[in-house]
Formats: sequence, structure tokens, C-alpha cells
Amino acid sequence: MADHFDELVAEADAASVDGWDFGWLDGRATEQRPSWGYARSLAGRLGRARAVLEVQTGGGEVFAEALAAAPARPTLAVATESWPPNLARATRLLKPHGVAVVHDPDEPPLPFADGTFDLVTSRHPVTAWWADIARVLAPGGTYFSQQVGPASVYELVEYFLGEQPSENRNARHPDQARDGLRAAGLEVVDLRCERRRIEFFDIGAVVWFLRKVIWMVPGFTVEEYRGPLRRLHDQIQAEGPFVAHSSRMLVEARKP
Ligand SMILES: C[S@@+](CC[C@H](N)C(=O)[O-])C[C@H]1O[C@@H](n2cnc3c(N)ncnc32)[C@H](O)[C@@H]1O
Repeated sequence: MADHFDELVAEADAASVDGWDFGWLDGRATEQRPSWGYARSLAGRLGRARAVLEVQTGGGEVFAEALAAAPARPTLAVATESWPPNLARATRLLKPHGVAVVHDPDEPPLPFADGTFDLVTSRHPVTAWWADIARVLAPGGTYFSQQVGPASVYELVEYFLGEQPSENRNARHPDQARDGLRAAGLEVVDLRCERRRIEFFDIGAVVWFLRKVIWMVPGFTVEEYRGPLRRLHDQIQAEGPFVAHSSRMLVEARKP
């Protein structure tokens, strides 16, 4: 059988990783979604909200999907984004829904006055700055978010980086989120974690995923990891898809 390692790797290395849409992986990798249906749940909340802030919107894809499905549009909606390639993309997708996208580094303070929003949302923020989220929420307001949980896709991380220390494995644990929320004065309404199956069907999918999700194997380049990539390609060819598990956390909290 022809060995397509070089072609698969070169194609994935050249492909764009802008935005936060994983459509490039269609047919090459799969990920089971969490049971709670984040975009659908968010749509319901958007229909009841007046002033909404979406933090770290990426390319705006998920927020746009939720807004399109919402029974009503909030009176005021703003999204923040730090990464320049995503600012224009998010604006293109979100402006038709009445959302302004504001350039903001992913560090406090958010550029809004205290108590501005009755709903703050964020899917997969790099860091959730609990105290700043609490600050911009109005009394009675809600933080609703899907976040990355502990040891997400660690089968892949540890394939490349070796066994990780327990402090790395336990980072993003729901207990830390609970402590952070409470310390910020927020009441925990819902906090759930699920592990979901991921399958990579070819080495190109692995390369593209690691280029896109830069936090998995920091500094990942094809040149640096060509040897392990070659071995993983051979493994997939011989044994079938590489299986990993994502870790997802649903967070709902209320400001008293
Ligand atoms: C993990 S992304 C999630 C985006 C979006 N909320 C979603 O779930 O679809 C969180 C943040 O990381 C930023 N980001 C993504 N890729 C990046 C890169 N290569 N360099 C710097 N920031 C990046 C995004 O633009 C976004 O603000």
C-alpha cells in the first residue's frame, strides 16, 4: 500500500488554522460532543438576556450559531477577542447579529464598567478570570460557559511530551473552578465535567490539530516532531485510529 506520510504531513502543515472552526478535520477525525448541548443551552439564555458579553469568541462561530437559534436577540451584545486573525472573522460573523467585537488581551481588566452585563458567556476560554467576570456582571447576572477540563486529549499530549506531572494533569479541575468562582463571590449553579472520545484517522489530522490548538504541545512544529509523527503514522496504519479523550466542563454561576 502506498505510504502517504509526507503528503499528509505537508498538506496539514500548509493548511490555514485561522478561526475556531474544525471543519478541516471532517472525515479525518471525530469528537463526541458533551451531553449538555452548549450552543442550544446558550441560545435559550440569549433569548432571555438584555446585555450580553461573550469573552474570547475566537472566530465567533459558536456564538453566531447560538444567536441564530435564540428566540430573541439581546438589546446589547459585545464579544471580546485577542488574536488579530480572528478579530475580522468574528466581526464578519457576529455583526449581522448586532454584536460588536472588541479587541482585548485575554487578561484583566475587561474593558467594561462594573455591573454592565446580565449574561457573560465563554466557550473554551484559555483562562477564566473569575474576579473580572464577577465584576462586569450585574447583581443577579449569570456566567454560562463550557470550558476545557483536566487532562484534555492527554493521550496525544503524553504521546509527544511523555508522562505529565500531576499538577499539569489536575490543572483546570472542576474543584479549582468551584474555588475560583466562590472566591470571586459567585454562586455555583451547575458544574459538570465529561470525558468524550476523540479519534484521529490519519497523521494529517494530528498535525493540523496540534498546529491549531497551540496549548497541547507548546511550540509544536512538524520539523521538531517528525520522528514521533512518523511512528504515530505507522501505528495508525497498523492498528487503526489514534483514540484520545477530551475533557469538557459546564459552568453556570450567578452573582448574588
Ligand atoms: C480556545 S479559543 C476558543 C474560541 C471560541 N470561544 C470557541 O470556543 O469557538 C480561545 C482563544 O484562543 C485564541 N486563539 C486561538 N488560536 C490562537 C493562536 N494560534 N494564537 C493565539 N491565540 C489563539 C482565540 O482567538 C480565542 O480568543
